[in-house]
Amino acid sequence: MKLTVIGCGYLGATHAAAMAELGHQVLGLDIDPDKVTALSQGRALFYEPNLDPLLAKHTATGRLRFTASYPEAAAFADLHFIGVGTPQKPGEMAYDLTHLFAAVRQLAPRLRGPAVIVGKSTVPVGTAPQVIDILREFAPAGDQVEVCWNPEFLRESHAVEDTLHPDRIVMGFTSENTRAEKVLRQAYGKIIEAGTPTIVTDLATAELVKSAANAFLATKISFINAMAEVCETAGADVQLLAEALGHDIRIGRRGLRPGLGFGGGCLPKDIRGFMARAGELGVDQALTFLREVDAINNRRRERMVDLAFEQCDGVIKGKRITVWGAAFKPDTDDIRDSPALAVAQALHQRGATVTVFDPKAMDNARKAHPQLEYADHPAAAAQNTDLLLHLTEWPEFTSIDPGSLAARVAAPRVIDGRNTLDPVRWRAAGWTYRALGRP
Ligand code: UGA
Repeated sequence: MKLTVIGCGYLGATHAAAMAELGHQVLGLDIDPDKVTALSQGRALFYEPNLDPLLAKHTATGRLRFTASYPEAAAFADLHFIGVGTPQKPGEMAYDLTHLFAAVRQLAPRLRGPAVIVGKSTVPVGTAPQVIDILREFAPAGDQVEVCWNPEFLRESHAVEDTLHPDRIVMGFTSENTRAEKVLRQAYGKIIEAGTPTIVTDLATAELVKSAANAFLATKISFINAMAEVCETAGADVQLLAEALGHDIRIGRRGLRPGLGFGGGCLPKDIRGFMARAGELGVDQALTFLREVDAINNRRRERMVDLAFEQCDGVIKGKRITVWGAAFKPDTDDIRDSPALAVAQALHQRGATVTVFDPKAMDNARKAHPQLEYADHPAAAAQNTDLLLHLTEWPEFTSIDPGSLAARVAAPRVIDGRNTLDPVRWRAAGWTYRALGRP
């Protein structure tokens, strides 16, 4: 099939490469010329495992191309996936849908024949009808343009795997759709044939599935982090608690990792956008618990700063503090709403000299936080430090020998914000080991 992917960020670039891998002819569109240039050369402007090889493989054969031209995209195919970003509005909880509506407005006047528009961006429920309104107003093809919603559940750092082998496909259609379901099922043919559960819904349910999924994931993380708060005062161990809870298959162990909490470009924004939308719909009470989910998450960052104070005997000013990790989670260079950098910045503001190391996110961190210090190796970052904070759980950090590291530091004190360092090993090597939610 021939298809386009409009918006080539994490979602769109991965989707475009994956659709080429499934055998389709793909044209990716992005309004950022730098992105188009890099992607056309077979590389993304961000780090995502296994994505560059896939981009290189399919740009080399010509099956995957990129452009900044809407006329070219409209002429190329009559199946268009939209994966543009829907960030949080500055200073508000709601989504900023400017990019989405702009993309639809650009495409619409160029749709002269039957076409299927597939929304993949995360949106507040009720957005798809607004997209349909724009198309009805501006598309010459009128109601021959069908709109469906097909949310994306990929995780950064597993984006390629999640796109090619999703755990489910959700497709939302209107009752007027006649071609869209057939076309979308054909596009995902290989994935559906592999046995992937496919759930067909109306538009509103499809939009809501994504909001609900991210709200649930955020709630699960904040739940275990709330238990960590209780554990801290009760003298219990949240790590063992999580393990014990996780054996109940109704609860499950995944997404129940206690620590510094969630960040990134999705969960924080999506719970806030979901609450804002619920408010507009007059059902805000149904989601007030998400305010608490957000608050618990932010408290973890504050607690980490408090623990740092405690470990530095109440004086942070003038102390040297090492932060391991800048990305919001391992295997990405994405620093959006990174808990690690939020803590680093808070300690810097309180007068500490904070030195950061991250295996992949150094460039992004440097640009966003030039006031912090950076070192090019985890051990170099810890040279003469008064306190080591482990804030993003890259495997590089777990494999470091705490014994040889102890010889480099001013004081062997570590706080494990992700509960992945081995306390027995670190304590045996002479370190004072503290963690969130553990004695
Ligand atoms: C999240 C969802 O997991 C995806 O399903 C969804 O498609 C995506 O948002 C999106 O909306 O596009 P992502 O933001 O890539 O994906 O990251 P997650 O792997 O969910 O992790 C989010 C944050 O939660 C990270 O900061 C991570 O460190 C933290 N986390 C995760 C925990 O603190 N504990 C856990 O047990 C799991």
